Amino acid sequence: MTEKQEFLESLTVFQRPKHFFTLIVNQAGSYLGIDPSGDLGFFPYADDNVMWKTTASGLEHVVTKTEVVQKPDGIQPLEIPQPNNQFKTGPCRLATGPECLPSEYLEFFRKNGWVCLNSILTDDIVEGLEKVACTDRFDKHKFNTSTAPLSQSPYMAKAATEPVSLWVIRQYMQTEEIRLAHTPSLAILDRDDGRRNVQGWHSDYPYLWGITGNSKDGWVPTASGSTVLGVQRNVCVSDFTKLGGATAFKLGSHVQETAPPESWGRGSRYFKPGARKQHGLPYSGPEADIIEAPGGSIILYDARTWHRAGINRQGKKRAAMLQAIIPMYVMPYGDTSVPYKKFANSKAHEELTELEKYEFQKLMVHTISNPAGTSAITIDSELTATIKTK
Ligand SMILES: [Fe+2]
Repeated sequence: MTEKQEFLESLTVFQRPKHFFTLIVNQAGSYLGIDPSGDLGFFPYADDNVMWKTTASGLEHVVTKTEVVQKPDGIQPLEIPQPNNQFKTGPCRLATGPECLPSEYLEFFRKNGWVCLNSILTDDIVEGLEKVACTDRFDKHKFNTSTAPLSQSPYMAKAATEPVSLWVIRQYMQTEEIRLAHTPSLAILDRDDGRRNVQGWHSDYPYLWGITGNSKDGWVPTASGSTVLGVQRNVCVSDFTKLGGATAFKLGSHVQETAPPESWGRGSRYFKPGARKQHGLPYSGPEADIIEAPGGSIILYDARTWHRAGINRQGKKRAAMLQAIIPMYVMPYGDTSVPYKKFANSKAHEELTELEKYEFQKLMVHTISNPAGTSAITIDSELTATIKTK
């Protein structure tokens, strides 16, 4: 590939939105909403029914148009007009919600196989992630290698339990029971030096088409159709830009249910030492796509989508937090039980709301459930030592 053919991917650009919906959150972290039967209550998930709009006098429920009058001294307690009386909710706080309705994100995701929840994380979470990654506002800081990033602050878990993306993923995967296939990790890209290893084109876990290089060319041997075995959830910690190494995709390729073309440079090729010198960079022409989005955005894509890591050509590091989401019936990729136990005993865990604690446990602890009950799965080192491998 000549120099001129490189970095010509098509761009989809998301600018930081000017308006967001509002969430009304109680101390446990649940969301005030009005369900389809008209009942007001707190809900442990973020669908359209918990979305509010700010108005001149307070807040308006987006679906039912019910108004909330905000007290001048703040929002504790909120007064919620009901058909016949006033209803007080107790201490609550207002939080910045998503730019679009959850149902709109879901519709886009179902139609296209990807969706960008633009700037959905609040700035305190983004700043907390930058601090752990030592990028952006903290790029002069030294990366802490003494403990796992997850246990260093509550913000990786807070980002992992962002409620709108969880709701969208559960609908897209058609199951409530979703799990993390591995502990959330940080992907920090330094400026490219022209020689380092790069990632080739592939599908994500559990498909891994284009990576494993065996005869079936992946871990899932056949197309899975409407049964979604994996959704990748990339949290942009830094701004994602083409120059800064945003992920490259072939958007919409999930429907093909195959490995990326050999000619694009598959992951299996670029695992081999010297591949970059021998083959040049993997395909980065106009058939590929790059999503540019502000830090704090979450990009969801069907794990079958062909993609590869970007090449950072700017003078600063770029961070993302990566999570592979699977349904409970798929085997995890890494052991999440030990990292979860460490995190659950850390100070960072105490700073989560009750709902965040519950959701993070659901995501991280893989279980076997049957009529006898539910048991957590973990690694048995003694048994592992007896396994015979070829
Ligand atoms: Fe990937």
